Amino acid sequence: MTFEINGQEHTLDIPADITALEVIRSLLGLTGTKEGCGIGECGACTIVVDGKSVNSCLMLGAQLDGTKVLTVEGLATEASLAPLQEQFMKNHGVQCGFCTPGILMSTHALLEENPDPDTEEISKALAGNLCRCTGYQQIFASVKAAATASRDDRITGGKNG
Ligand code: FES
Ligand code: FES
Repeated sequence: MTFEINGQEHTLDIPADITALEVIRSLLGLTGTKEGCGIGECGACTIVVDGKSVNSCLMLGAQLDGTKVLTVEGLATEASLAPLQEQFMKNHGVQCGFCTPGILMSTHALLEENPDPDTEEISKALAGNLCRCTGYQQIFASVKAAATASRDDRITGGKNG
């Protein structure tokens, strides 16, 4: 199968029964995507496939064929964190960090579709992502701050840094 991940094309010959999560972590070595429950309950394995957030533990690897995938490694550059990651850092949306890659990917998909979500929309978008540390208040604050920062950036054309 051939697919694109974080802007890089890969052609792989894979067993029919492995998951997308195994392709990403074990075959491609992209270990930012986490395995929590392995059964679609925790969201730690969330990736973005063709713009939609997906639990990669529930997706067969073969289903990645022909898709464009974004994982947490695709958000930052060598030089800097992505604005979304900056806001999670500033607003204390991260504690142990295990849930964070999945939450970032769900948030990325949400903000691409809805740049100004209200609390209910954030809650719905993150309903499949469990966090055992933060109590969610700081995560929601981080998402709102990221939406505000990106709106301000659009208004000023990025001139506010
Ligand atoms: S590891 Fe996929 S939902 Fe928990
Ligand atoms: S920050 Fe620890 S599980 Fe969310």
